[in-house]
Amino acid sequence: MTKLNTWLEKTKPLIAVIVIDDLSHAVPMAKALVAGGIHLLEITLRTEVGLAAIKQIRDQVPEAIVGAGTVCNVKDYQSAIDAGAQFIVSPGLTTDLIEKAKQVESAGQWDGVFLPGVATASEIMVAKQAGFAQLKCFPASAIGGCSILKAWAGPFDSVGFCPTGGISLDNYQSYLSLPNVICIGGSWLTEASLMTTENWPEIELRAKTIQA
Ligand code: 3PG
Repeated sequence: MTKLNTWLEKTKPLIAVIVIDDLSHAVPMAKALVAGGIHLLEITLRTEVGLAAIKQIRDQVPEAIVGAGTVCNVKDYQSAIDAGAQFIVSPGLTTDLIEKAKQVESAGQWDGVFLPGVATASEIMVAKQAGFAQLKCFPASAIGGCSILKAWAGPFDSVGFCPTGGISLDNYQSYLSLPNVICIGGSWLTEASLMTTENWPEIELRAKTIQA
């Protein structure tokens, strides 16, 4: 059993993809998601406060499992670890990131989960060769949605996917019904308008509506 599988036993199978512009939103947003049964929180490093948000949530919301998203290079990978990220998600996979992941693991510097992104069969083959069996499928809906995941189930039957990109309340259950989908990722629970208006009750409600 992988560490991600262990986490998934304690949370609904959805990684909330979160963009934080205002650091003061990090903790109340995280508390709302956790209250709604969503514990896997991917804080994207697309804003200046992303790393600080990871630190604050780690310190103040112990029930959350906090990760860093949009990690595209080795510098951000290390910064995410230093900020306390328990998992790291990247939209794609580079040789630099593979080397970095192996290096921090073999040095015993980090025992978190790296979820690299793939969008093609060749990328899956590279990821598998590098030892990754659980992968983000991105951008899921744009590259074929459930159809491509069904097609990959044949040649890549040992791979578990976390589709992300274009997933919503209307279609998430179709993805979760696929045997090779371990969880999904989505930003709709914390969409920008809810964050700017600090509508934590609505975020909690949206989390609560997710059926495992
Ligand atoms: C991501 O950053 O992983 C995706 O862009 C999230 O996709 P969504 O906004 O369509 O949920």
